[in-house]
Amino acid sequence: MAVPLHPALRTSIWVVAAPLALYSVFISLAMIPFFQRQISTLRWTDLNKPEQWGFATNQVTPFGLTTSDGETLYAWHIMPLPLYLENEGSLAKQKPGYADDVTATESFRLLKEDPNSRVVLYFHGAIRPSSYHALTDTSSYHVVAVDYRGYGHSTGVPSEEGVIEDASALVEWATTVAGIPPERLVLLGQSLGTAIVSAVAERYSEKGVEFAGVVLVAGFSDLATMLSEYRIGGLFPVLAPFRAWPFLLKLLRRCVVDKWRSTDRLGGLVRNTRNRLRLSLVHAKDDPDIPWSEDNKLFKAAVSESVGISNDTEFDEWKEERTVHQGADAFVSTWKSEPDIVVRQEVFPYGGHNNIMGYAPVSAAIMRSFDLLGAVSNQTIHTLI
Ligand SMILES: *[C@@H]1O[C@H](CO)[C@@H](O)[C@H](O)[C@H]1NC(C)=O
Ligand SMILES: *[C@@H]1O[C@H](CO)[C@@H](O)[C@H](O)[C@H]1NC(C)=O
Repeated sequence: MAVPLHPALRTSIWVVAAPLALYSVFISLAMIPFFQRQISTLRWTDLNKPEQWGFATNQVTPFGLTTSDGETLYAWHIMPLPLYLENEGSLAKQKPGYADDVTATESFRLLKEDPNSRVVLYFHGAIRPSSYHALTDTSSYHVVAVDYRGYGHSTGVPSEEGVIEDASALVEWATTVAGIPPERLVLLGQSLGTAIVSAVAERYSEKGVEFAGVVLVAGFSDLATMLSEYRIGGLFPVLAPFRAWPFLLKLLRRCVVDKWRSTDRLGGLVRNTRNRLRLSLVHAKDDPDIPWSEDNKLFKAAVSESVGISNDTEFDEWKEERTVHQGADAFVSTWKSEPDIVVRQEVFPYGGHNNIMGYAPVSAAIMRSFDLLGAVSNQTIHTLI
């Protein structure tokens, strides 16, 4: 039988319990939907049959990779279609579906044995096979995408630290198992994936590792800002009711344990660069979830320390001199610096939050990172000859 509590005691219980409740509300509501909403469009049981999304048989090899702290992540290796065609005969003999030992597959052999293999490590917000098509249908590079811990077929529980560990595990797999040196790897992130890529690129830059490129699509400056100032109902539908109480949102913002401060991380990445950096920010003007202006913050964070302008007005003037406008809804700002650093921000009129992944600016950013522009035209010339 319930004993009625003294009103004073009841109040003090709430004083203690309310912040704790808020804290757990944040953990369960904010962090998890950020991942889950993005990937819930697919049925996981189908993922071992990539043909369902129009890939050629054995163009995609699903496999598992292990993190340094013992989680197993579910990954896809997607071959570029032109390479697939050249090797259709030998690939046909591979057993389709999940590979228990990916290193024994024909597709892995083709990746590893080619001294010119280039790989895009894709850190998604949403798994959208259509964007993998756009990246591999006519390209010369492979794509490897991974599911973060706690989602899909991957084990574990997501946290900022854990997911960064996941991204590092993919980089380690590509460099050590597949033997692809960092100068032939591009890190590509979308939405939440931009925060993961910023973190992992900075982490490796501290060790002097420089990738062919870092491409961030539909990025944001930090999670707390996203949570309290922006499209709560879009990316965080469960938080939408909180919009009526701004003080609650502020409180939540202070409770955010996972900060995802990409601004700080991009600043660190540029500071640590010794030789070469290609950092590309791509955002659609009509992104309904994350406003394109978030990329202004990322661009500024990346370059302002080196440029030495912290005053916003002065920085905007400096940036305007390096900006080419392509109509009212599109522009490209470029900063080039010694030794061989290029930071490029592109705002494109269309593409929303997700479709932009299959649009030209993203493919072009990858090609620029790999310095493939000259190579492509040379190839065309050779073909003509
Ligand atoms: C920034 O620079 C502008 C123009 O040079 C100046 O008017 C403004 O006071 C400065 N703002 C700050 C916060 O220093
Ligand atoms: C393209 O060809 C020219 C001349 O044959 C060569 O100098 C250049 O390095 C090539 N570019 C690439 C990216 O292979």
